[in-house]
Amino acid sequence: MKNISFKLAGSFFILTFIIEAILFAALYTSIVNTRITEEIHALQGRGNSHRAVLEKHFDKKTIEHVALMETEADTNVIITDDKRNVLAQSAAGDMTEHLHFEERSIPRSGTALQSHWKTSKYICTISPIMKGRDTVGYVFMYLETSSIKGLVQNITNRFFASFGLTAFLTVAAIYLLSRFLARPIIMIKESAEKMTNGQDNISLNIKRNDELGELAASIENLSSNLNRLQKERNDFLSSVAHELRTPITYIKGYSDIAMRDQFDVNARHQYLSIIKEETDNLTLLVDDLFLLTKLKQPGFHIEKKPVHLHTLVEKEIRKSQIAFLEKRIGLSYHIPLNLTVSIDEKRFSQVITNLLNNARHYSESDTEVTITASASKDRIIITVADEGCGIPEDEQDYIFERFYRIDKSRSRQTGGTGMGLAIVKEIVEHHGGEIMVKNRHPKGSKFIITLPA
Ligand SMILES: Nc1ncnc2c1ncn2[C@@H]1O[C@H](COP(=O)(O)OP(=O)(O)OP(=O)(O)O)[C@@H](O)[C@H]1O
Ligand SMILES: [Mg+2]
Repeated sequence: MKNISFKLAGSFFILTFIIEAILFAALYTSIVNTRITEEIHALQGRGNSHRAVLEKHFDKKTIEHVALMETEADTNVIITDDKRNVLAQSAAGDMTEHLHFEERSIPRSGTALQSHWKTSKYICTISPIMKGRDTVGYVFMYLETSSIKGLVQNITNRFFASFGLTAFLTVAAIYLLSRFLARPIIMIKESAEKMTNGQDNISLNIKRNDELGELAASIENLSSNLNRLQKERNDFLSSVAHELRTPITYIKGYSDIAMRDQFDVNARHQYLSIIKEETDNLTLLVDDLFLLTKLKQPGFHIEKKPVHLHTLVEKEIRKSQIAFLEKRIGLSYHIPLNLTVSIDEKRFSQVITNLLNNARHYSESDTEVTITASASKDRIIITVADEGCGIPEDEQDYIFERFYRIDKSRSRQTGGTGMGLAIVKEIVEHHGGEIMVKNRHPKGSKFIITLPA
């Protein structure tokens, strides 16, 4: 049986059934034994009171009188002398077999001779009749075991009825309980199967306050995360395909043209340099993709060590200087000389490079780009500010997403693939920091990086 509710119910039932059976059996024996002991005591008591009368008057008349009294009762009596010869008997019948059973000295309070009610026809007690220290006779009392058997049968019947009822209620309770427990587990299992088969947006509708409720919520969460990831992956693949198509189209088109014979060396050279430029673009794109994938891997770690920020920025500025000069854009920086930050130098250089490239790219000639840094007790703030075209407020949230460009047309002038800021954000976040952008007055934008000190 694979079904979990069957397994749960089955094991619960076996366990409770055993416990109930043991309890019922113990209770049953104890009740039956108590009742039988009570009967024996009552019989003994009756014998003892006859004995009391006979001790006062141990004569023929009294003996017959006692025997006569017993003829009207459920019980019977035999009165004997000290040699156990019968003097009087309340009912005819074969009760004498017990008369010589007990030879040892019998206590004054009497004793039970035959209490095996199951096998014998009678239970029997004996009480000695004493005159001073001598025993002059005995009172034997008899009770037919059929009445005890009737009583026990009665108790047994009631016990079976109660046990049946209890077992029934237990089965019903266990069945409901196991369904209550197993239903959500089965639902969760089915949802997991649906997820495996590619169905998305699993909704379980299990509103419970326990671990099963939490498990259901986790599964729903997992499903929506999986959806998001699938969608992201598809978007990513179509973006990559889209980004690859443009340079490949150029390369294919220009190589077709360059292969024709009618062009002279100069024209052919021009086409080939376009092809080279597009190949370079492709290489950049592939490098960026590799880098971003690497940064997004769960196991990726940066290697932080103390870096003198002034030196790092100076180096970056020297690298970019020529490109800025070509476009006649001013480049300056104000970094405290004593500022050391704990960063991964190679990765953080990439951040500054990307921000400077953007600043240059999206600024006109005769503007200024400035890098500043300041440190407070718990954080370090680094800014890159330009006087370029700025970023519309409703786009500011998106520019850090990969492939996102404000100018959607990818002309060969505007160039980029929209990976630069995604890489920047990823690196900054790996450092435990954050990046945001603000517009400047009258124009331009300012990228602000906050790092923990
Ligand atoms: N300093 C800036 N001024 C104005 N717009 C900017 C600036 N920096 C980024 N942007 C806008 O944000 C978009 C995303 O920038 P990002 O650096 O991610 O990509 P890119 O520069 O287009 O391409 P890539 O950097 O991959 O070559 C840019 O396309 C641009 O529209
Ligand atoms: Mg860029």
